[in-house]
Amino acid sequence: MATVYRLSTAIFWLLVALAGGVALFAPAPPEAPAVSPATRGVTPAELAAHATEEDCWMAIRGGVYDVSAYLPEHPTRPQVVLPWCGREATEAYATKLRGRPHSPEADRLLETWRIGSLAAP
Ligand code: HEM
Repeated sequence: MATVYRLSTAIFWLLVALAGGVALFAPAPPEAPAVSPATRGVTPAELAAHATEEDCWMAIRGGVYDVSAYLPEHPTRPQVVLPWCGREATEAYATKLRGRPHSPEADRLLETWRIGSLAAP
């Protein structure tokens, strides 16, 4: 019994050592891209080129968001949001056109569509 115990303990530590060795020599994880989506500069001209229901980018609080895939889910008629495709939309987003801000949940959702930052012309 003692032999079985010693043997299984030895095998256990052998496996731990092997796993450690493999981790030590594993290739380094790939580098993050040099320009992350959050910092890629988008000029107003580039923004303006995405102004349709199928291809809708908006600039909000300095960030640029591709909300094309979200538009069908937005809880209003498309006509409410479409005028801001391809444009600076901070004010419209902040007020929902009636002076009420979007919820923190909407803010979180918005960040998932971020593709860059608004750059100088
Ligand atoms: C910039 C143009 C936009 C306008 C004018 C606008 C306007 C509105 C309006 C009128 C409502 C429904 C009424 C209300 O809840 O008070 C609403 C709700 C909502 N919108 Fe927008 N919206 C815009 C963009 C967006 C974007 C880009 C997102 C997210 C990606 C978004 C997410 C939501 C969500 C989640 C709701 C549900 C209520 C809430 O969480 O605040 N909207 N929006």
